Amino acid sequence: RQKLLHINTVQDAVNLLRDAKKVIVLSGAGISTSCGIPDFRSASGLYAQLQAEGKYDLDEPQDMFDIRVFRERPEIFYSFAKQIYPSNFTPSPCHRWIRSLEDRGILLRNYTQNIDTLESSAGVKRVLQCHGSFSTASCLRCKTRVPGKTIEPYIMSQQIPFCGTCRQARDVEIAARQERKEAKKRGKGKGKVKATEWDDDSDSSEISEWGAESRPDIVFFGQALDSEFDELLFLDRDEVDLLVIIGTSLKVAPVAEVLTHIPHSVPQIFINLTPVNHVKPDICLIGDADSIVTYLSHQLGWDLPPPTAVLH
Ligand code: OAD
Repeated sequence: RQKLLHINTVQDAVNLLRDAKKVIVLSGAGISTSCGIPDFRSASGLYAQLQAEGKYDLDEPQDMFDIRVFRERPEIFYSFAKQIYPSNFTPSPCHRWIRSLEDRGILLRNYTQNIDTLESSAGVKRVLQCHGSFSTASCLRCKTRVPGKTIEPYIMSQQIPFCGTCRQARDVEIAARQERKEAKKRGKGKGKVKATEWDDDSDSSEISEWGAESRPDIVFFGQALDSEFDELLFLDRDEVDLLVIIGTSLKVAPVAEVLTHIPHSVPQIFINLTPVNHVKPDICLIGDADSIVTYLSHQLGWDLPPPTAVLH
């Protein structure tokens, strides 16, 4: 990175943006805090809130998004999910700034870790929601995928949404089991009705506990990211000429590792309220991200798309 050591001022950031043709924006929760959505790791963030509330019977606040915990006790996530469900939020100047890069034809991709879909609300098309979103939900067991709206009423009423497909299969099994019991009673022997994956000795509570919860398609700890992440990054790394990182602590792999996957010759601008120590971006602009991108736009003579132009 030797040849980049001389760039580190705001004016350098302005110049880099002016010259850039293929920008990757890597964004995190810090671009949505001004919309009223807490980030995760700040003192007032979601994890601190969960810790302080202490009402969820979790060893660590991060366990709220751990797939093993979810499999064992989905009710914990569903008693909480309402709090992070994206509704009625308006994109921030940062989201609009990313849109303005796209409008200027210089956004190669926005890799966002956020699940609030506010990039899409701001009209950004070239966005990859690396950690998924609430826009669809899938059954953990049969993988049936449904629109997120299907489970929205359950999230809002803090109930576990069960998968329709699995529920149907369960009802068929219960009926079949009943029939087998009756056939047995009638002395006609067992096995007339083919046994399925439950054995007849398990009681019905076991059936109702059959793991058939639908879950929003957000990536939990312990789950792999969609393969699209690797596929797009593999292509984008050869094209990118500027990396802008906004509002993330860069603590969670593999998204945080994007920095190491793109060529070292690509300059990096890091915009965040707090500095990070474990990586050394070329330019660090420390402060409120909305103010910083607004300042940069002003210096560049770029207009942000007005909030009124933002469509949901
Ligand atoms: P973090 O909460 O770890 O980091 C957000 C960063 O944004 C912090 O460093 C804040 O200082 C900064 N920040 C907050 N408000 C800001 C503002 N107004 N202007 C500029 N910066 C601001 O959130 P992420 O890095 O996005 O994953 O977290 C990554 C992943 O960890 C999340 O996607 C989530 C979480 O666990 C999963 O749940 C799988």
